[in-house]
Amino acid sequence: MKTVRTIASLRENLQGWRKFDETIALVPTMGNLHAGHLSLVGVAGKIADRVVVSIFVNPTQFGPTEDFASYPRTLDSDRRQLTRAKVDILFLPSVAEMYPYGERGGTVVSVPDLSDILCGAFRPGHFDGVASVVARLFNIVQPDTAVFGQKDYQQVAIVQRLQADLCLPIRIVVAPTARDPDGLALSSRNQYLDADGRARAPGMHQALRACAARLRDGEREFTALETYGMADLASAGFRPDYFAIRNAVDLSSPTATSRKLVVLAAGHLGRARLIDNVLVDL
Ligand code: PAF
Repeated sequence: MKTVRTIASLRENLQGWRKFDETIALVPTMGNLHAGHLSLVGVAGKIADRVVVSIFVNPTQFGPTEDFASYPRTLDSDRRQLTRAKVDILFLPSVAEMYPYGERGGTVVSVPDLSDILCGAFRPGHFDGVASVVARLFNIVQPDTAVFGQKDYQQVAIVQRLQADLCLPIRIVVAPTARDPDGLALSSRNQYLDADGRARAPGMHQALRACAARLRDGEREFTALETYGMADLASAGFRPDYFAIRNAVDLSSPTATSRKLVVLAAGHLGRARLIDNVLVDL
């Protein structure tokens, strides 16, 4: 695996591949890789000839009181895992490479409405940071395919909207959420959990599944179901941000005739803010 730090050097490598009509998949990450990321890399390897993984802890998607400074950076271990996974290129840009006009002064890519709801309501500006860095990565790599994880459901919806609205010739592939055997969705932020928090954390997935089961049983009192979900999160020990039932395609509020739903939750356990979701296809 080659590690490249500049856009110029990345493009030289990509041009070499394109001459031979090789297809390219991009897996954007912020590093601190775990089995969830590796499953995205596995999907990428199956659908393209070449795989590029980016590691960039993107400052613009962290709020002023969030964990940018302490976000786990584990480059040596990340590199070993990506080499084993047969990734072709690790793109490891600096902040100056990604934001040549400054991280606060650069162009902002914003996907309205979708960015202000759910997690966006609790993390103002977060999804503008995500959309801005993903748009840059898409332009830098110009991959045929980009792979994202379903765990970050709202992020995926925003990236899909960005791709469609800006007519980017990139296929967005969504890979299923990787979980520990007790159901906890894998996340870099799980390492902020202490022993008690780790024991309680699967409660979020259990609450989501309970709600999904009630929807499948025909319950349609969405507000009441959301209230039960909030109570389930609280009784598992979370300080919930939200528990919401939405249309799976565009995260709008469902009606009694909606058929493709997603139940999403976010909440805090100690220092860790966890998110998860479950699709419900009626
Ligand atoms: O999901 C993530 O790790 C990040 O939000 C992403 C997509 C790499 C953008 O920084």
